[in-house]
Amino acid sequence: MSSLFPTYQRWDVHVKSGKGTTLVDTNDKEYLDFIGGIAVCNLGHCHPTIVDALKKQAEQLWHVSNLFEIDGQEQAASVLAENSSGDYVFFCNSGTEANEAAIKLARKHTGKQHIISLKNSFHGRTLGSMAATGQAKIHEGYGTMLESFSYADLNDLESVKSLVTEETAAVMVEVVQGEGGVRVMDATFAEGLQALCNEHSLLLIVDEVQTGIGRTGKAFGYEHFNLSPDIITVAKGLGNGFPVGALIGKAHLKPAFQPGSHGSTFGGNPLAMAVVNAVLTEVFNESFLNEVVNKGKAFENYLNEALNGSPVVKEVRGLGLIAGIECHAPVADYITKAREKGLLVLPAGPNVIRLLPPLVATNEELKKAAFILAEVVTHQKTTV
Ligand SMILES: Cc1ncc(COP(=O)(O)O)c(C=O)c1O
Repeated sequence: MSSLFPTYQRWDVHVKSGKGTTLVDTNDKEYLDFIGGIAVCNLGHCHPTIVDALKKQAEQLWHVSNLFEIDGQEQAASVLAENSSGDYVFFCNSGTEANEAAIKLARKHTGKQHIISLKNSFHGRTLGSMAATGQAKIHEGYGTMLESFSYADLNDLESVKSLVTEETAAVMVEVVQGEGGVRVMDATFAEGLQALCNEHSLLLIVDEVQTGIGRTGKAFGYEHFNLSPDIITVAKGLGNGFPVGALIGKAHLKPAFQPGSHGSTFGGNPLAMAVVNAVLTEVFNESFLNEVVNKGKAFENYLNEALNGSPVVKEVRGLGLIAGIECHAPVADYITKAREKGLLVLPAGPNVIRLLPPLVATNEELKKAAFILAEVVTHQKTTV
């Protein structure tokens, strides 16, 4: 009998090791891992450069607290700022915490409380980030939510406009709703959203926890759109499996985050920063990101070819290397069957298969995954 709270519905797979795109279980069965710890292991498992950076730092210094200057934080912050619309960075330990910091910063800077987020969004599990999340099932059983959130429809500018009041501090969005079904923002909606924020002096918060750090073929997903976020939140791929998160904010927000306003014991510790700096060196590199764009296009083609004509498939969609296959029926069985055939994928809502290959996956691996999915979904052997 397990002594764990059963907060997760777990699969009966015990992973013993991982390398690149491959995971190996305790029966020595190999899997193509297109989950990557849920968009975390962007550079694959046990990437040698990241392992070296972590080992080297582990032998030198783990933790000192934010009472001290931490050179790794300065270095990582300047790289994040140089590559984004932001200027200053606050480090924490997860996506939820980064979003919690964003909510606090928006409130403190504007002196207002109301934040508009989107239906089907996912921003985390603390009381603040859970309230930001536009999904009733996440709120259920936890009593009164922070009342200062309201939820608009993705890609419906009028629905956002209709919620703006004198008390509105910010709008908070994902450019691709990952948990919410791999739903991509329209370019026209993005443009309208930015104009609305400019017109009403609303802060634009973009949650890049799932889409950031190269996942979409850009350093940050918002760069595909005409957006200039005041606040960007990241986590997941930032540490490639080492728990870390960050908030990146524009310079005008600096006065709101002064000594004592916010903090974290572990946030930005030397171990995390050694990993983050190694990750950013690999990912924030033009040729690496161009490769992700090429792989994303190739993957979309493989999926479309493999699933073409299947009456089960409603739509294949995505951006870079986050892809979703929306089906006309629940996908839980397909996910189980894919796993039996050695491909790990996950759902995004009941009818969508979500694919999050590592950014270092080869075209052969992407093709193989499409081939397995075709077998599982269409029950036909296809060559792509
Ligand atoms: C867009 C988005 N924001 C926030 C979170 C929460 O991040 P974490 O689980 O690291 O707290 C997630 C997690 O899936 C996410 O996808």
